[in-house]
Amino acid sequence: MMSEIARGLAGVVVTETRLSRVDGEAGELIIAGFPLEELAPKATFEEVLYLLWNDRLPNSKELEGLQLEMASFRSIPPATVAILQAAAQRKLSPMDAFRIGVDTLSLSDPNPSENSREANERRAVVILAAAPTIVATYWRLLNGQDPVDPDPNLSHTANYLYMLNAEKPHPDAVRAVETYLNTVVDHGMNASTFSSRVIVSTQSDMFSGIVGAIGALKGPLHGGAPGPALDMVYDIRERANGSGRSIPEEADAYVRDVVSSGGRIMGFGHRVYKVRDPRADVLGAAAEKLFREAGDAQLCEDARAVEEVVVRVLEELKPGRRLQTNVEFYTALVLHGVGMPTDLFTPTFGISRAGGWSAHILEQYDEAVLIRPQSGYNGELGRKWVPLSERK
Ligand SMILES: CC(C)(COP(=O)(O)OP(=O)(O)OC[C@H]1O[C@@H](n2cnc3c(N)ncnc32)[C@H](O)[C@@H]1OP(=O)(O)O)[C@@H](O)C(=O)NCCC(=O)NCCS
Repeated sequence: MMSEIARGLAGVVVTETRLSRVDGEAGELIIAGFPLEELAPKATFEEVLYLLWNDRLPNSKELEGLQLEMASFRSIPPATVAILQAAAQRKLSPMDAFRIGVDTLSLSDPNPSENSREANERRAVVILAAAPTIVATYWRLLNGQDPVDPDPNLSHTANYLYMLNAEKPHPDAVRAVETYLNTVVDHGMNASTFSSRVIVSTQSDMFSGIVGAIGALKGPLHGGAPGPALDMVYDIRERANGSGRSIPEEADAYVRDVVSSGGRIMGFGHRVYKVRDPRADVLGAAAEKLFREAGDAQLCEDARAVEEVVVRVLEELKPGRRLQTNVEFYTALVLHGVGMPTDLFTPTFGISRAGGWSAHILEQYDEAVLIRPQSGYNGELGRKWVPLSERK
């Protein structure tokens, strides 16, 4: 007797984790014991990594130790740069280059066959430290610019912006991106995290687990397409400028147009969260602070106005579907606000989520269970062999 098929594994609990808890009904996200809003706006990304790997916050000596260790692995090996150059010639997408680049870090692994906790913790630091360098180096090569070496005096997040733009970032921009990285670092048993755990459940290595996870994140159903959420705000702004109507009036008309023609409003609705996505709140606050201190406060205000109308009109047109703002909407606002090109949104998501993947991989090694579900067979039975000469 075949048991019921759990297509997509929705609702199936495959393991336990202390890393994050997603409560879609309550709109709550816990990261290693902290409500997201308690952790993300306050912590540095290095502190969050330490927390995920060690289940507690570091003291100042431990934090300094991690910062120094990450600084020592932040420059990428020449072999990695050479591969990124080849990728840039082919104009690969930044996610492909990110995946290939991370894989090459295994070339410098001192002892690839060692699978101790210590060796894997070190690999996690190597991968996390080098990830922003890989993405920033590739982006500059792709755009015909020379790569920028990391600055040992800058933090992890500040270095990412520095290596992208070749100038020291504004502290508010660093804080906004850091809050973003902290916000998306882990999120239950999502597809990429699950992929990484499946891979290392065979006792394969951490590089393979992370590379597989990047591959899973590349797909638009997971890594998303955050560009369109902000395009809508620009579109509505432009219409309002042309028509003389207010932003809320134009937003109202826009939502009705899109929904009546069967379209979807980008940045709204979520498979799990049926109340407000807590990540949207944390990022909304980060965006507001960023724009107030350094930039286009009007864009932030307009985005808020559009959001309010979209949620209201969606509730009217799609009653009971509980379509709320999702993380993509405010991701677009924060990352756009620091001048990041849309093509780097998903790799930046990956730079953060690699923290979650590496911690899940360590958990999976401790759990030491091979993940091996089953499939139902729906093919033919009892076929008879036909010699090649008799086949039509
Ligand atoms: C994220 C998403 C795929 C989740 O979908 P879901 O929870 O499986 O919901 P469903 O696709 O079953 O949709 C339920 C209903 O709400 C509607 N709906 C869902 N999201 C909508 C949106 N963003 N705009 C308009 N209508 C939407 C659907 O058309 C459907 O209506 P129906 O019941 O009349 O057929 C969906 O909300 C979506 O496509 N959002 C826009 C894309 C986006 O922002 N993606 C990033 C996610 S982080």
